[in-house]
Amino acid sequence: MKIKIGVFDSGVGGESVANAITKAFPGSEVLYVSDSKNIPYGNKSPEKLHELVLPILNKLSKQCDVIVIACNTVTTTLISRLRTELTVPLVGIEPMVKPAAALTKSGVIAVCATPTTLSSNRYHELKKTYAEGVTVIEPDCSDWSYLIESKQIDRSHVQDRIEKACQAGADVIVLACTHYHWIEDIIKEVADDRAMVIQPEEAVVQRLKHVLTDL
Ligand code: DGL
Repeated sequence: MKIKIGVFDSGVGGESVANAITKAFPGSEVLYVSDSKNIPYGNKSPEKLHELVLPILNKLSKQCDVIVIACNTVTTTLISRLRTELTVPLVGIEPMVKPAAALTKSGVIAVCATPTTLSSNRYHELKKTYAEGVTVIEPDCSDWSYLIESKQIDRSHVQDRIEKACQAGADVIVLACTHYHWIEDIIKEVADDRAMVIQPEEAVVQRLKHVLTDL
């Protein structure tokens, strides 16, 4: 029997993660579900997100062996709660603060994320646990997921914020919203050789391998 992997995000962000999963697990079936009519998630409260997400995941959990929450916003605000409400294993995606803090040589990292992720307790915990002594810049990316979803983003939206982060000394840039995976090339181009850009697709594939062997 084919393993069924559910992948969920507010919109097109999770599609890049679903593509990476499909490539890594060619024998499995990947069911991608998004909630594009309610995008952006990144400026909604945890309560509102819970109200939107729980019915979708409940339904998806009946069709899948495991669900990947391909959304930093939902993972950082709700994953613990959702794990108590759903019986299927959940794999989340959260800001790569730990690897970024280990990689930086300048002691400055930039985390690109939605406002809801940046204000979540989990994100603050990640910074406190793994990035003590590291300067963490949080560029204003509050309109990016909407612009990416509506295909309106171009280099001009990214240039100023990434340029400022690089000028402030950031040598690692964390893509902590899956929508930004679609503009990874633009961000890399702006950062040039000043900063490395990291995102979690490979880490999610590895985590999923682990979870699938335990099923
Ligand atoms: N792609 C999502 C994330 O990783 C949410 C983007 C949004 O809907 O604002 O945070």
